[in-house]
Amino acid sequence: MDKILIEGGRSLQGEIKISGAKNGALPIIAATLLCPGTHTIYNVPELRDIRTILQLLVTLGATWERIDKHTLKINSDNITEYEASYELVKTMRASVLVLGPLLSRLGRARVSLPGGCAIGARPIDFHMQGLQKLGAQIELEQGYVDAKVFGGLRGNTIYFDIPSVTGTENMLMAAVLAEGTTIIKNAAKEPEIANLIDMLSGMGAKIEGRDTDRLIVQGVKSLKPAEIAIIPDRIETGTLLIAVGAAGGDVTLTNCNPAHLPSLFEKLRNCGIYLEAGERSIRVIRSGPLKNIDIKTMPYPGFPTDLQAQIMALMTMTEGLSVIHENIFENRFMHVAELRRMGADIMVDGGKAIVKGLGKLDGAQVMATDLRASASLVIAGLAARGLTEISRVYHLDRGYDDLVGKLSAVGAKIWREPGK
Ligand code: UD1
Repeated sequence: MDKILIEGGRSLQGEIKISGAKNGALPIIAATLLCPGTHTIYNVPELRDIRTILQLLVTLGATWERIDKHTLKINSDNITEYEASYELVKTMRASVLVLGPLLSRLGRARVSLPGGCAIGARPIDFHMQGLQKLGAQIELEQGYVDAKVFGGLRGNTIYFDIPSVTGTENMLMAAVLAEGTTIIKNAAKEPEIANLIDMLSGMGAKIEGRDTDRLIVQGVKSLKPAEIAIIPDRIETGTLLIAVGAAGGDVTLTNCNPAHLPSLFEKLRNCGIYLEAGERSIRVIRSGPLKNIDIKTMPYPGFPTDLQAQIMALMTMTEGLSVIHENIFENRFMHVAELRRMGADIMVDGGKAIVKGLGKLDGAQVMATDLRASASLVIAGLAARGLTEISRVYHLDRGYDDLVGKLSAVGAKIWREPGK
C-alpha cells in the first residue's frame, strides 16, 4: 500500500486549481440512469469514488467515455440490470444513489445495505421510507434492499427528521418521473443538491425550491439527456484553505466558489487567517500566530462535518483551548489518536472534542482511517516539524484529485512512495 511522506514546516506559496466536487459528481452520474441517451458532464474530478460509480453504472448496462481529462459522456440507452452488489456498495456508500433512478426507470432496484463504516452506523432508513411513500414496496433480504414498484411511482409528501444529503438526492431522482406532485420537507440544502437540480431541470424535470429546505417536484412523463458542469469541490477548497492556515504562506485557490464556505470563512478569520474572496478565487494568507476557535458541525450552511478532521489539525497549531461539537456523525474522531501521535493534546467526550493548542506538532508515523481523516493528517504533516509518514492513503484517493501534486506545486515537501 502506498504511503505519503511529508517534511513539514515549509510555508506554501503560489496557486492551486480546485477540482470538481466529488459529492456533486456522484448523484449527477447516477441521474444519467433516469432516461436513455448520451449525457455530458464537465469538470469531473479524477477520483476512485468516480471510478467506482462508473463501474457500477457499467454493471447496470451503461457505457461511458472520457472525452478529455475532466469531461465524461455517459450513455444509458440499455439499462437492463438493477442490482448494486455488496462488493461495490461496501467500497462506496454513495452507491445507494442508484436506488431512486433505477426504481424510476425500471420499477425495480436491488441495492446492498451499506453496513457500518469508519465514521458511524450511517443508516439509509430515510431513503427507504421516502421511496415507500412514493409507492415502492421494499423488502430487506440477505443484506439487500429489494425495491419494486407496480404501476409507477406516485407523488407524495416526504418529511426528513434530519436533512439527509443523499436521501434528498434519491427522493428527487425518484420523484421527477413520478405521477403528480412530491414535496420534500426538511430537505438538505447543500450546494451539491442545487447542482443535481440543475442537471435534472436540464433533463426536463420540474423542480421548485432550489437552495431551500422545501423542494416541490412536479412529475413529468419523460426526460431527455442533458449537459452539466460539476460545481467546484468546497471540501477540497476548505481543506486547502486550512492547510495554508496551518502551514503558513500565501496561496490563491482558483476555479472555486467562495460563497459555498460561509461558516469556514468566519472561523478561519477568527483564527487570524486572512482571506480575500474573488468571484471564483480565494487568496489565503497566514503569517502570524493562530487564535483558538470553537466549531459545531451542522447541515449546510453550517460548518461541514467533512471539514471537522481538517480544522482539528489547525486547532492543534493554535495557542489556547478549542472545542469541536460533532453533530452529524457519531464516531467521527478516529483521527484523534493519530494526531496525538504527533504530539497533539486532544480530549474526546462523546460527540465533543477539546483541543489544547500547543502551537506545534511533531512528525510521526500515522495511519489514515477515512477520507477526511487522511486530509487532516496531511495538514498536520505540513505544519509539523520533521518527517510524517502516512499509511493507508488509499482513503485519500477516494476524494482528493492529486492532492500531493497540488501541494508540491505550492512548495510543500510531500511525496508518495509506492507500497511494497
Ligand atoms: C453526505 C456526503 C458526506 C457528508 C454527509 C453530511 C455524499 C456522497 N456524501 O453523506 O460526504 O459527510 O452528507 O454532510 O454527498 N441519516 C439517517 N438515516 C438516513 C440517512 C441519514 O439517520 O437514512 C442520518 C445520518 O446518520 C447523519 C445525518 O442523517 O447523522 C446526515 O447524513 P446524510 O446527509 O444522509 O449523509 P450522506 O448523504 O450519507
